[in-house]
Amino acid sequence: MKSLHALVAAAFVFSASGAAIAGPGEDLIAKEKCNKCHTEKTTKKGPSFASLAAKYKADAAAPAKLAEMLKTGGKEDHQVVKGSEADLKAIVAVVLAAH
Ligand code: HEC
Repeated sequence: MKSLHALVAAAFVFSASGAAIAGPGEDLIAKEKCNKCHTEKTTKKGPSFASLAAKYKADAAAPAKLAEMLKTGGKEDHQVVKGSEADLKAIVAVVLAAH
């Protein structure tokens, strides 16, 4: 039974870390209420995430740039996200993956 326990534990760790890639960005975006001004596909007060993803597609520095912008508010005095670097990266990853 020992090996079965190990297997179950491993499966749990795997799914938990899987969620760390797919889930928290969306959760944070919901929590921060970014959808007051952004949606995935349509322009609201702010540009759609899909249009931003298209705009930054060829820009290798975009993830770092946008994380910085969300941390500081950028030039436009944008809403600031008070999260860890990992949180900011997760949010930006969701934005840049939109299509
Ligand atoms: C009060 C409305 C509002 C809220 C809330 C808001 N945004 Fe924005 N956002 C804007 C507007 C307007 C722009 C376009 C002007 C600018 O760049 O600031 C923008 C631009 C952006 C950009 C592109 C910046 C660039 O340099 O091209 C990103 C990425 C972004 N928002 C992400 C987010 C995320 C993530 C959240 C939630 C944490 C969020 N926004 C919440 C209004 C908002």
